[in-house]
Amino acid sequence: MSIRILLAEDDELMRVTVQDHLRDQGFLVDDAMDGTDAIGLLKQHSYEIVVSDIRMPGFDGTQILKLVKEQAPNTDVIMMTAYGSADDAVQCLKQGAADYILKPFDLDDLTIRIKRLVEMQEVKARCISSEKGCFAKATPIIGSSLVIQQMLSLVSQVAVSDASVLIHGESGTGKELVAAAIHYGSKRAQKPYIRLNCAAIPATLLESELFGHEKGAFTGADGRKIGKFELADQGTILLDEIGDMPLELQVKLLRVLQEREVERLGGGTVHINVRVICATSKNLKKRVATGQFREDLYYRLQVIPIEVPPLRERGQDVLELCDFFLEEYSQERGTPFLLTKDAKMALAGYRYPGNVRELKNILERVSVLAPAPTIQLWDLPFEVQGADGRDGTSNYTLNHAVAQAEKKCILQALLKTGNNKTEAAAVLGISRKNLWQKMKGYSL
Ligand SMILES: Nc1ncnc2c1ncn2[C@@H]1O[C@H](COP(=O)(O)OP(=O)(O)OP(=O)(O)O)[C@@H](O)[C@H]1O
Ligand SMILES: [Mg+2]
Repeated sequence: MSIRILLAEDDELMRVTVQDHLRDQGFLVDDAMDGTDAIGLLKQHSYEIVVSDIRMPGFDGTQILKLVKEQAPNTDVIMMTAYGSADDAVQCLKQGAADYILKPFDLDDLTIRIKRLVEMQEVKARCISSEKGCFAKATPIIGSSLVIQQMLSLVSQVAVSDASVLIHGESGTGKELVAAAIHYGSKRAQKPYIRLNCAAIPATLLESELFGHEKGAFTGADGRKIGKFELADQGTILLDEIGDMPLELQVKLLRVLQEREVERLGGGTVHINVRVICATSKNLKKRVATGQFREDLYYRLQVIPIEVPPLRERGQDVLELCDFFLEEYSQERGTPFLLTKDAKMALAGYRYPGNVRELKNILERVSVLAPAPTIQLWDLPFEVQGADGRDGTSNYTLNHAVAQAEKKCILQALLKTGNNKTEAAAVLGISRKNLWQKMKGYSL
C-alpha cells in the first residue's frame, strides 16, 4: 500500500522541491500552497503523514495540526519551520505533532523521519489489532458479591484518573481483566494498550523488549527494535508479574517513570506519555523487605493499589460465573448446557485454588466431555464432586456408583441405536417405559 502524504508549504520553490523528492521515494504526495488549501484536502482524503510549514498565510501550521489531531488522530504531523523559530516547533510537539524539522534541511533527513513514523504506525496498528483480537468481546467482569462490586467501583474511579495502579491478587483471579477494564474505561481507550509479562521473558531480553534497541546495540541486534514503552505512547502499558522484574531493570523503570522518557539500548532518548499498570500475584511488600524489589519503585507504582479477591471469598459469584461461562460454551457448541442442583452445590462448595481460571477450565472440560447437556454431579472432576458442602461421603455410596454406571449404560445403548428408544430398551433388557423413566431421572 502506498503511503499518502499531504505537504503544506507556501513557498513554491520549497514545495516543489520537497514534493519531487518524496515522490521519487515512492510516496503519494498531495501539495497545498496554504492552510486553506490543506484543510480542503484533509477533508477529502486520509493521509498517513502531514508535513506542514508552521507559518503560512491564512490558516497556519498549528491550526492544521489541531484539525488533524481532532479528525485523524492516527495521522502523524511533521512541522517544518525556519531556524530561530524552534520554540514554535516545540510548542507544536506539545500539541501532538510527531516531529519537526528546521529549515533549511537535508531532504534525506526528512525522508528518514517520515519512514520512521510510517514504521511506527505499522507496528502500532499490528499491536492494536492483536489487542482488539483478545478483547473483541470486551470481557465483562462478572460478580455481584460485595467485594467484587466494591472493587469494580474502585476500578471505575481509578480508570478516569491517570495514576499508576498496582493490581494484586492470587493467580487466576482476573487481574488482567481488571487492567483491561482500567485502560478501556480511561481517556486513553482509543490509544494502544500494550501488555508485557515480565516473568515470561528472559532477563537478558527484557530490557530491549521494554525500551527497544538500535541496530548493532548488541550482538544479534541486526535491526532497530521499538520497545513496548514507545509502542504504548499515549496509551497504557501493563507490566504483568512485575514482582519478577530483575533489580537492575527496576532502576531503569523508575527512571522512565520519573523522567517520562525511554532510552533505547545503544541509542537516543525518546519522550513518552504512557500510563503504567502493574500486576502481580507476589507479595511485593515482602519482596521489598527481602531486598528483591526496590522500595522507591514499589511506592511509585502503587499510587493506587487494587486487591482482586480470591474466588472462594466471593460467595454467590461462583454460580453467576458458572452461568456466564456455560452460556458462552452453549453458544460455541450449539448445545444448551445446564447444571443439576447437586452439581451446582458441589461447584459452589469447592475452594478453587486456581480461582476463576480453574472454574472456567472445569466448565470447559465438562462441556466437552459430559455425555448430555444436563451436567450431573458425577460429570464434575473428582475433587469438586466431594465439595458439595454436605457430608463428604455421600458421593461415594453404592447408590451413587450404581446410578453412575446405569447412566453410562443407557447412554451407550442410545448411542449404539442412533437414539432409537425401543431398540435401546431391548439392548438394555428393560421395558421402553422403564427406559423413559430412567432417562427422565438422569435428565437425559
Ligand atoms: N470476574 C470475572 N468475570 C469473567 N471472567 C473472569 C473473571 N475473572 C477472571 N475471568 C477469566 O478467568 C481467566 C483468568 O483471568 P486473568 O487472566 O485475568 O487472571 P490473572 O489474575 O491475570 O491470573 P495470573 O496471575 O495467573 O496471570 C480469564 O479467562 C478471564 O477472562
Ligand atoms: Mg495474568
